[in-house]
Amino acid sequence: MKDAEKIAAANRRKQDKKAYQPKFGKESKTPVEPCDPAALIEVQHLTKRYGDLVVLDDISEKIVQGEKVAVIGPSGSGKSTFLRCLNVLEDPTDGYVFFEGNNLCDLKVDINLQRRRMGMVFQQFNLFNNMNVLKNIMLAPVHVGLQDLRKTKRQNLRIKFCNLFRSAAKKQPLQPIQTSKKQIKEDAERNAMRLLTRIGLADKASVYPSTLSGGQRQRIAIVRALAMNPKVMLFDEPTSALDPEMVGEVLALIKELADEGMTMVIVTHEMGFAREVATRVMFMADGKIQEQGPPEAVFGNPQNERLRDFLSKVL
Ligand SMILES: Nc1ncnc2c1ncn2[C@@H]1O[C@H](COP(=O)(O)OP(=O)(O)O)[C@@H](O)[C@H]1O
Ligand SMILES: [Mg+2]
Repeated sequence: MKDAEKIAAANRRKQDKKAYQPKFGKESKTPVEPCDPAALIEVQHLTKRYGDLVVLDDISEKIVQGEKVAVIGPSGSGKSTFLRCLNVLEDPTDGYVFFEGNNLCDLKVDINLQRRRMGMVFQQFNLFNNMNVLKNIMLAPVHVGLQDLRKTKRQNLRIKFCNLFRSAAKKQPLQPIQTSKKQIKEDAERNAMRLLTRIGLADKASVYPSTLSGGQRQRIAIVRALAMNPKVMLFDEPTSALDPEMVGEVLALIKELADEGMTMVIVTHEMGFAREVATRVMFMADGKIQEQGPPEAVFGNPQNERLRDFLSKVL
C-alpha cells in the first residue's frame, strides 16, 4: 500500500472511532454552565436513558422560589423520572441538576445534606408500617439531628486533639453544642405533634399506618416530608392511589401549602387542581417538555398537537 493510502485509511479509522464514541460517556459529559442564582432548582441538558430508551431528552429548565409547577402528560412520558432526577433519586445519564446553586451531580457536593430540603411524596405513601404515625414523622428529623450532633462532636474531638500541639495563641475554639440527644427527640416529637394537629390527626399519633385510610396515610406522608422543613415539595401523583372520596382531603392540604407559598412540583392527573393551584403547567411527552405556560394558556389555548390530543382525552 502506498503511504498516502495508509494515511487515508488511518484517518478513516480515526473518524469512525470518533463517530462511534458514546455520546453520553463520562468523558464526553456536557460542560456545566453557570447556574442562575435566582433559580431554586435548575436543570441543564438533563438526559436520562435506560439502555436505548431515552426517557428524558436534553431538558433545560428553571424553577424559582414560590412557583407551583404542575407536570402533566401521558403515562410513560417521563414525568416521574423527571421528578426523581430533581432530587437525584435517579442519576441523570447526562446534564446537571442544581438546587440552590449546588450542583447535585457533583460528587463533592453532599447530596444528603441537599436532599433534606427537598420533600418528596409518592403515589404509594411509603410510610413505614412497622412504626406508629408519630415515629414515622419523627424518624428523619431525629436521624439527621443525631447525625449532625455526632459530626460536631467528632469535629470537636479533632480540634481538641490538634490543639494539644498548638501554641496557646493558635488554639482553635470548639464548635458550640447547644443540643442533646434528648433535646433533639423532644423537639422532633413536638414538631410532629404540631403537624398532626394541623391536619386534624393528633389522635392518631400512636396508631400504625395500616389502620388508617389512604387519605389519612397520604396526608401523614405529606407532613412527614414537611417535618424536615423543606424548601420545595415534589409530589408524584399524590392522589392516584386513593379512592375518589379521599382525593379531596389530600388536594386540600396540598393547596393549603401552595397558598402558604411553598414551592412545589407536582405530577398530577387532576387537571382541575392543576388549573386552580399551579402557576405553571408543563406538558411532557417523548421525554421533552412539549409546551408550558400559565394554566389558562396551556388548558385554554393549547398550541402543541400532542397536548391538544392529550387534553381531549383527559378533560
Ligand atoms: N428503572 C427503570 N428501568 C427501565 N426503564 C424505566 C425505569 N424507570 C422508568 N422506565 C421507563 O421510562 C419511561 C418513563 O417512565 P416514567 O418516568 O415512570 O413515566 P411517567 O411517570 O410519565 O408515567 C417508561 O417507558 C418506563 O418504562
Ligand atoms: Mg409516573
